[in-house]
Amino acid sequence: MGPYGVIADIHGNREALTAVLAALDARGVRRLVCLGDVIGYNADPDECAAMLRSRGVLAIAGNHDLIGLGRLDTRRCSNNARYALQRTRRTLQRETRAWLASLPARLVLEDGAVVLVHGGVRDVQQYMVSTALVAHNAALLREDFPGARLCFFGHSHEQKIYEVDGEVTDEIRVQEIPFQEKFAFRRDRAYFVNPGSVDAARKSRHKLAQFAILDPGADAIEFHGVRYDAASSEVKARVFGYRIGPWTDRLYSWQRRLQRVLHT
Ligand SMILES: [Fe+2]
Ligand SMILES: [Fe+2]
Repeated sequence: MGPYGVIADIHGNREALTAVLAALDARGVRRLVCLGDVIGYNADPDECAAMLRSRGVLAIAGNHDLIGLGRLDTRRCSNNARYALQRTRRTLQRETRAWLASLPARLVLEDGAVVLVHGGVRDVQQYMVSTALVAHNAALLREDFPGARLCFFGHSHEQKIYEVDGEVTDEIRVQEIPFQEKFAFRRDRAYFVNPGSVDAARKSRHKLAQFAILDPGADAIEFHGVRYDAASSEVKARVFGYRIGPWTDRLYSWQRRLQRVLHT
């Protein structure tokens, strides 16, 4: 059946998504999966959703998609993400809303061997950024998806592989595998893999649109990063009101402090 292109965290960045889809087309990858956060932060949420829909991409919902629909609040968002999401909510087209509302929280592929989640296994807003958190989620994965060997996650926007060893919850051992562009899985281990983020607007180290290619037949994964027109994407986001100004930023910070005082 061929390899899967695995993408995540597009965040309304049409230029980055266009570059990733072109790179996947050039490699002949036809099956695409998306780990959520299609919208939020950049200026083209409807266009990105339409691009995924037209290609029949299998997608799950991320926290930004749920916030855009009004199903989650912005309490756990940074000020700039909250501002951009409020802007996104005002403009989202009906077809986009309907499609986002149809997305499941998690998906299973390859007869249960591959699971897709956005944040943690049971918490769409959890950042799996440490071996301890991955170990906790590995135990949840075994409960919820006993046959899973590979769990793809997004949300933290960094390309990562964690290897999981051990059969019983108490004995689960997790190690982060040093980054490598191509990696072959062991049959006697489970893995948590983040393909990186398509959107690089908030990254200072580089402006590369990231993705991964899974070859389930070969038990192998490749990580990629491609250049895109980041300057145009950023100008559009500013012109169309998706970037927070200093006064609103300060206002949001004060509101946050006030809420903390009122709730303690
Ligand atoms: Fe995200
Ligand atoms: Fe997210």
